[in-house]
Amino acid sequence: MKKLLLGTVLAGVVAIGAACSNNSSMQGHDMSNMNMKEENTAQDSSKKLPLATNTEVLSGKEINLTAKEALLQINDQVKLPVYTYNGSVPGAQIRVKQGDNVKIVLKNELPEPITIHWHGYPVPNNQDGVPGVTMDAIKPGETFTYEFTATVPGTYWYHSHQKSAEQVDKGLYGTLIVEPKNEEKVDRDYTLVLDEWMSNPDEGNMDMSGMDHSNMNNGNSSDNQQMDMSSMGHDMMNMYDIFTINGKSGSAVKPLKVKKGEKVRLRLVNAGYMSHKLHLHGHEFKIVATDGQPLKDPQPIKDELLNIAPGERYDIEFIANNPGEWLLECHGDMEGADGMKVKIQYEDQTNNTDKENAKKDLPIVDMTKYGKHELGQFTLDQKYDVEYTMDLGTAMGKDGMVYTINGKTYPETAPVNVKKGDLVKVKLVNNSPKDLHPMHLHGHFFQVLSKNGKPITGSPLIKDTLNLKPGEEYVVAFKADNPGNWMFHCHDLHHASAGMVTEVKYKDYKSDYIPDPNDTTNKGE
Ligand code: C2O
Ligand code: CU
Repeated sequence: MKKLLLGTVLAGVVAIGAACSNNSSMQGHDMSNMNMKEENTAQDSSKKLPLATNTEVLSGKEINLTAKEALLQINDQVKLPVYTYNGSVPGAQIRVKQGDNVKIVLKNELPEPITIHWHGYPVPNNQDGVPGVTMDAIKPGETFTYEFTATVPGTYWYHSHQKSAEQVDKGLYGTLIVEPKNEEKVDRDYTLVLDEWMSNPDEGNMDMSGMDHSNMNNGNSSDNQQMDMSSMGHDMMNMYDIFTINGKSGSAVKPLKVKKGEKVRLRLVNAGYMSHKLHLHGHEFKIVATDGQPLKDPQPIKDELLNIAPGERYDIEFIANNPGEWLLECHGDMEGADGMKVKIQYEDQTNNTDKENAKKDLPIVDMTKYGKHELGQFTLDQKYDVEYTMDLGTAMGKDGMVYTINGKTYPETAPVNVKKGDLVKVKLVNNSPKDLHPMHLHGHFFQVLSKNGKPITGSPLIKDTLNLKPGEEYVVAFKADNPGNWMFHCHDLHHASAGMVTEVKYKDYKSDYIPDPNDTTNKGE
């Protein structure tokens, strides 16, 4: 958490330097006194950084990615230093066909080690990109080649798994789209990646800790700092004051063009650490897939909010049958929500018919009742080889808030021990008083069987990321069919880095990767 604070303070200085240098409200801040001269290389190098470009779409036999720094212009006022894959946030979209052999050559031009983890994709374990577990982090200047077969279609994403709470926060992610062999054609296919940013993390830190600058300078204020760290878990979220779609906020978000009669698909990906409730105005829509997996006979819905938790994906489709200009917008009263909206613009249609209604209370789609019910691969009462209960908790540790699984923090958490072919049932319970825990399993999909003791009555729900609100309890099941050591963790990556991680470990799996015990750069979460 200390690193994180330092990181955000640095970013704040850069943001102020770039965007507010003449702003009189900043005069109270004496930047020269802030004890960060050594670390603050970002400030100098940011002057030379290129502006982030538009996201490109890459396909083909060999895909080249370069991780590098850039400046992201989020809206008229705010420009932030970011980490990118190929110069954009989100990074390049990788678009391949089911059955393809995918080869990605990643070059690291960032000043620190990185990886790529293929979120949701069942890759072989040695391609999973978890430093210290499946590979060494890729050091500055180094290149690493990932290779896997595109076995399942759908909407996925990729991101660094090295110090991921920080690196994903800085923009180091992109999308992976695997088109099915027999594609049902749509007329428009848009990918929208949601995220949150801090426009002024420096001020956020001051507000929250009550520390003034003299305290910051004072090397003896460790007690104060301790208090500050412990409150961060919750207060962090208030510091994310700008919400974005595809790296842009508010009117800077590029409108989505449609023509009357077209079938439109939106692939929604949440790369941030907060849940967002999206409202599509003026149209009925269907949720056709979640986490890349199709839903059975989705019914059309209208004026219901789609809740997207960190790490989750939803593919929705609608027919453009209502000419005008409409919004897809984030509902809620969080400060940043206002920026998370995109216009859906009918071509040749200029009269603006739509109004924002972000404060309006609308029902939220209940995914446990959505689509047509049928039996999936797993049932609640069949026999399982392995059963595991995950009690997700929040506690006060000696260095601040920790997030626990059965009272322990990673790597002390008990792994889910399996062998190949096992049927595995996991009960997840969120016992944290306030925190959401979007739990993500690497390398496998699981079927959601029940919520709060009630069986799923909609379409079979197959996911890799499942959001638990405080007090909620879910039962999920999967088949251990992909040998390796796989992370199972909260995708609020602040929670993961503060302990909420375990592993699914295959008994007879022999990894060809041996972590270097002297290499301290590998940091799994
Ligand atoms: Cu999206 Cu372990 O991560
Ligand atoms: Cu969590």
